[in-house]
Amino acid sequence: MYIAMNNFRVRAERAVDFETAWRTRESFLAEVPGFQEFHLLRGPLDDDGNRLYASHTTWTDELAFRAWTESEAFRKAHAQGKVGDLLAGPPKFVGWEVVPME
Ligand code: HEM
Repeated sequence: MYIAMNNFRVRAERAVDFETAWRTRESFLAEVPGFQEFHLLRGPLDDDGNRLYASHTTWTDELAFRAWTESEAFRKAHAQGKVGDLLAGPPKFVGWEVVPME
């Protein structure tokens, strides 16, 4: 399994708007090969008072995730509403490979 997380720092007073942008988005993930689950994670405030969020997706493997980032489904999802003015800085992506335990 592979976990892809994009980490956002959102200006605290715009957190509700940020969540609304995600809740009202059109999603194109359901039919993507290898996609398993999506969650929007709401974290604590950081030291500068910005609200931390992460988009969290699980995939069968890294290849499936990479294929999605080059797909029309990815392009269409990211051609929607603009959240740039809600953010305290650029998002940071981290991909996680799940370590097999057996
Ligand atoms: C490798 C990098 C990225 C990953 C893994 C990623 C992940 C995702 C996922 C899983 C979705 C939902 C797609 C769907 O439901 O069909 C999404 C949508 C979205 N992404 Fe990304 N994303 C990336 C880059 C970015 C960047 C650079 C931004 C810049 C702000 C961004 C902002 C958004 C927003 C705001 C949405 C919600 C739809 C909208 O209102 O545009 N993403 N992203």
